[in-house]
Amino acid sequence: MQKRRTFIKLFGKGLVGSALVPPFLTNCGNSNNSIHLSIETTEYLDSLKKMPIKGISPSASDEVILAEGLNQEIIIKWGDAISESDTFGFNNDFTCFIPLDKGNPNDGLLFVNHEYPHSLFVSGYNYLDINSVRTKGQVDQEMYSLGASIIRIKKNGDKWQLIENDPLNRRITAQTPIPFNWKSPIAGSSEAIGTHSNCSGGITPWGTVLTCEENSDIFYSETDDNGNRTKSIFGWEQFYDYPAEHYGWIVEIDPITGKSQKHVALGRFAHECCTLIQLEDKRIVAYTGDDKANEFIYKFVSSKANSLTEGTLYVADTINGKWLSLNIKDQPLLQENFKDQTEVLVNARKAARLIGATPQDRPEDIEIDPIDGSVLITLTNNYKKENYHGSILKIVENDNHHDALTFSSEALLTGGPETGFACPDNLAFDLSGNLWFTSDMPGSEMNKEGGIYEGSLKNNGLYVVPRYGEQKGEIIQVASAPIDAEFTGPWFSPDYKTLFLSVQHPGEQSESLEKLTSKWPHDKDGIPKPSVIAINGKLLDKFIELKKLDQS
Ligand code: FEO
Ligand code: CA
Ligand code: CA
Ligand code: CA
Repeated sequence: MQKRRTFIKLFGKGLVGSALVPPFLTNCGNSNNSIHLSIETTEYLDSLKKMPIKGISPSASDEVILAEGLNQEIIIKWGDAISESDTFGFNNDFTCFIPLDKGNPNDGLLFVNHEYPHSLFVSGYNYLDINSVRTKGQVDQEMYSLGASIIRIKKNGDKWQLIENDPLNRRITAQTPIPFNWKSPIAGSSEAIGTHSNCSGGITPWGTVLTCEENSDIFYSETDDNGNRTKSIFGWEQFYDYPAEHYGWIVEIDPITGKSQKHVALGRFAHECCTLIQLEDKRIVAYTGDDKANEFIYKFVSSKANSLTEGTLYVADTINGKWLSLNIKDQPLLQENFKDQTEVLVNARKAARLIGATPQDRPEDIEIDPIDGSVLITLTNNYKKENYHGSILKIVENDNHHDALTFSSEALLTGGPETGFACPDNLAFDLSGNLWFTSDMPGSEMNKEGGIYEGSLKNNGLYVVPRYGEQKGEIIQVASAPIDAEFTGPWFSPDYKTLFLSVQHPGEQSESLEKLTSKWPHDKDGIPKPSVIAINGKLLDKFIELKKLDQS
């Protein structure tokens, strides 16, 4: 009953019959459902109807374990060649499939970003010896492993294949020059060198990808209140004296040309994701969260059509249900503390705190419910408040207008042993409006004797909350990740026959190559490798068709 009540809270209010949210949000630009209809023979739908939805139990296995009716294949692994000069990066997070021809769901570009390196695997630097210093060569290897990989993939029969050496395959790394899209220089320059710390992301209605710089301070530290730079964890600043202020932005990348830009108007902090909705008049609302304990949820509302530059950045006061303007012209307190709007945006956290934004429990992914238009935000945990299991927050904008300045909100799904998950992270909706989410319990505590999550939860997983059918509202685990890994970047192919999924940081707790905690994907060399997998199968078809099956 607990789970059923959760569902009613999650999906029961404001339900309308047709999708409110433009399809670009859920299938990367392809709104043509006729592709998806091709599987709907009467016999197949009948067989789907009879098929049970049976989840898996949590697992501690060093494998990707899937529910019966799902299959998997590895598309690409860290280190795989994508061209004569480039290889796939490390710790893949966001994935997004962009069809090259909207009528063909089986041929396109897979955009994958890369968050942070594990020096044991990427550069050989001994991270357990606090006295050792990285060499420039090691830093260069780490910088190359981050940013983004764009690869062309095609489906032949049931199998996705990397098209190695395709002219559209490219790497963007922590050494790629990227201009700021802003009227003033940032820390003295109109261009940054590189992007890294890339966590989740989003797509735009005009066919580009947004990749979000999250914990950039681990590479270039931060400037303290006295204007001095502190030492970063990775120490890249010892060889590359790039300003800390050049990172922590949302980066827009054209997947076809590779042309990139950093969007200052969206503020600077540990961006987890960026989820856009296009209003009727083509103005853009962009939601983004700051994944740090007691930081904030933001939204940008553009004043011009399809702009991520002209407009106002707001921050959420979830206590009073208000979006607070971070425009210096609107806020005397900001005028007292900052010299101009650029300084406000570079120091968005400080500005948001000054004007009374509500501290959150580490906002991670954000998705807009395609059926009722509500905004779901994972709040993964907040150890500072002894919140170890996290929750999902639901925001309903006033009159369901995404540019509204007032809203209501409520905590919805709550993690814990009784609900069977902890630390929700990435979110996705499918064609039936089922909610998919991944979990990210930290490796240092996950499934460890004496750890916070010791007991029933085991490894991280992938979960579905059906919107229709007898199991609606249940939290069903459909996949379990290898040891130390989290699943990230769930993304459906345009025909919804494939779920792309990243397997990030398997074996992250390994102390040495001799003491590996994971060997997934179990290559001959035994080295764990972050990889992107494709999941398909009859159970995926069942979820996708669930609305129709329930109504037939
Ligand atoms: Fe990179 Fe907040 O996860
Ligand atoms: Ca995340
Ligand atoms: Ca998502
Ligand atoms: Ca996380």
